[in-house]
Amino acid sequence: MVHLKSPAELVRMRRAGKVVADVLDHIREAVRPGVVTAELDGLAEEYIRSCGGAPVFKGYRPMPSMTPFPGTICASINEEVVHGIPSAERRLEEGDILSVDVGVCLDGYCGDAACTYPVGAISAERQALLDVTEASLNRAIDAALKGRTLGDIGYAVESYVKPLGYGIVRDYTGHGIGKKMHEAPQVPNFGHPGRGVTLQRGMTIAIEPMIMSGREDVRVGENGWTVFTADGSDAAHFERSIAILDDGPEILTPWTSRMAH
Ligand code: MF3
Ligand code: CO
Repeated sequence: MVHLKSPAELVRMRRAGKVVADVLDHIREAVRPGVVTAELDGLAEEYIRSCGGAPVFKGYRPMPSMTPFPGTICASINEEVVHGIPSAERRLEEGDILSVDVGVCLDGYCGDAACTYPVGAISAERQALLDVTEASLNRAIDAALKGRTLGDIGYAVESYVKPLGYGIVRDYTGHGIGKKMHEAPQVPNFGHPGRGVTLQRGMTIAIEPMIMSGREDVRVGENGWTVFTADGSDAAHFERSIAILDDGPEILTPWTSRMAH
């Protein structure tokens, strides 16, 4: 069931979302060649706890068959799409792209967002992948108007990235968000205009296009978490939690965009 948030709940969603956004902005400053992803994880956890929040990914277990996620952030490099496990052995190199996903619970409400960062100077191909993925998120947010549908959101992503030759991750989707990180409904990055659940005032959702430069196929690695592109091509991931309001979408996780216009 889709839970519509009251104005009082939205106040809390904004507070949780602000912590998420601050974490991502801090991480952007810390990303450079030579840094290990465990370092970024430590920085994120420390900041979240200093705000009185809790990292929602840590210990998260979507199914009993899975091991609990060990990190505060997901750190996924190059052909890793999402759910990369932070590690003291994983050192960033010049030219890499790093996707960082973070979720925070504060005062009973969650925020969830992600951003892909360049590590030093990156190739034009990788920069284009980042720009297209972030632009697809922006298009999806622009489509998130009261009275329109989840199909409109998915279509906004699909109709933009597919003609440019990129692949969409279809096995993982965005989601409703609130007291729990994952609430109904699922928010796919593909769809048909006018189809699916109608967007209502007070709905809060996380929109998170995961886009790859190659073939549309992913596999889960041996650690049971990390999702890779099947063909080894690059992937990017941008996510924001938003609220559907009468006068349009409100961004609940206002991380700073660096996209060139
Ligand atoms: N943004 C991701 C999602 O919505 C975060 C989940 S990572 C996990 O699924 F570790 F918590 F699983
Ligand atoms: Co999410």
